[in-house]
Amino acid sequence: MRLAINIDHVATLRNARGGTDPDPVKAALLCEKIGAACIVCHLREDRRHIKDDDVKRLRSSLKKKLDLEMAATEEIIAIAVKTKPDLVTLVPEKRKELTTESGLDILKQKRFFEGVIKKFHKYKIPTSLFIDPVEAQIRASADIGTDMIEIHTGEYAEANSGSEKKEQLCRIQEAAAVGKAFGLTVNAGHGLDYSNIIPIAAIKEIDEVSIGHAVIARAIITGLDSAVREMMCLVK
Ligand code: PXP
Repeated sequence: MRLAINIDHVATLRNARGGTDPDPVKAALLCEKIGAACIVCHLREDRRHIKDDDVKRLRSSLKKKLDLEMAATEEIIAIAVKTKPDLVTLVPEKRKELTTESGLDILKQKRFFEGVIKKFHKYKIPTSLFIDPVEAQIRASADIGTDMIEIHTGEYAEANSGSEKKEQLCRIQEAAAVGKAFGLTVNAGHGLDYSNIIPIAAIKEIDEVSIGHAVIARAIITGLDSAVREMMCLVK
């Protein structure tokens, strides 16, 4: 299983003072150097963390993979096509949410997302769809030709009781197996941290996990090097 690091919150901290420090690109390069397989950034419509220039600089500096997380809006699609990331992960986006709250409803908007995927494929950009661990959503995602899915692990991460956690873990295990059976690459992410990653890391059908908040938060205390190394160790 590979570890992708989301560096949005390095930009959140930088933006707090409107200057250039800390630089998300420097942080991304360090994560790569330590061993992260991929860097993820979410260019939101309101640009609350990552800015257009960060995406440009990440594209020209990274040696491994850049995954551009984004809403499928005309403006951001145009930027993605120009930037040519190694992967786009399509997510739903609401202005007022603190972070992505749920998976895409591919069943409801099958034709729309089919068109978006076709557009990215025309430019040879692979796509991933961020969806809840629901078989019908996975089937619909495979039907419209996505290369990958990212299973939303938020409900697992937020489960309060042991039994609820177990139930949510089962949903993710089943969803990952279904995704593989449809021939998809299966990623997972959202809310994963140092205390809940191990059962997810044990799911052999998951190819990559995407983690942001927990790693950047720990980096404030222990430094980025140690925070990334420790997470890599748990994932492996
Ligand atoms: N995957 C997706 C699709 C996300 O929207 C996010 C949050 O930006 C993450 C993974 C990472 O979540 P977290 O910051 O909780 O690790």
